[in-house]
Amino acid sequence: YSENEKTEDYLFKIVLIGDSAVGKSNLLARFARDGFYTNSKSTIGVEFQTQKIEINGKEIKAQIWDTAGQERFRAVTSAYYRGAVGALLIYDISRRQTFESIGRWLNELRSYLDMNVVTILVGNKSDLKDAREVTTAVGKALAAAQGLFFIETSALDSSNVSAAFQTVVREIY
Ligand code: GTP
Ligand code: MG
Repeated sequence: YSENEKTEDYLFKIVLIGDSAVGKSNLLARFARDGFYTNSKSTIGVEFQTQKIEINGKEIKAQIWDTAGQERFRAVTSAYYRGAVGALLIYDISRRQTFESIGRWLNELRSYLDMNVVTILVGNKSDLKDAREVTTAVGKALAAAQGLFFIETSALDSSNVSAAFQTVVREIY
């Protein structure tokens, strides 16, 4: 390749998974267009957004896929995971049940993708301090036990949203 053909060298597919209403679509909205929706509806089928990320002076394109947490609204599972090299496994720190589902999501992820997929466990809604049901320590411990990266985010106040995606992309790259 000549120098000027190198601008779009990398395209990485990253999938968002986790229970309904943990904030998958809002994390993507915040990251891709700095948006947030207080009354967002459940995702139906599959949506994706491509976002440029710069790592070590290289432009990388992350193609981020989002589907519904609820079975009946989900995209065809095998197609959703196909070709993904990164995953954000998301729960809501204010709903313990969504954290308890993580094992199931991890099993599904591992049944479709090999162990090399870069995965980060994301505790979203860190702004809901008074409603917290899952401590940071418990989240970290699960991530460590499963060999995952870990971060807490808020799509509402933007904290750590870019960092969550960047951690995955940097590690893939
Ligand atoms: P499904 O598409 O059904 O799987 O849900 P989802 O995981 O995409 O959740 P979505 O992004 O639609 O968010 C669900 C609700 O949580 C919405 O009312 C959002 O406004 C709210 N929400 C998302 N992220 C945050 C956050 O970081 N903090 C707070 N306080 N609310 C959030
Ligand atoms: Mg959604």
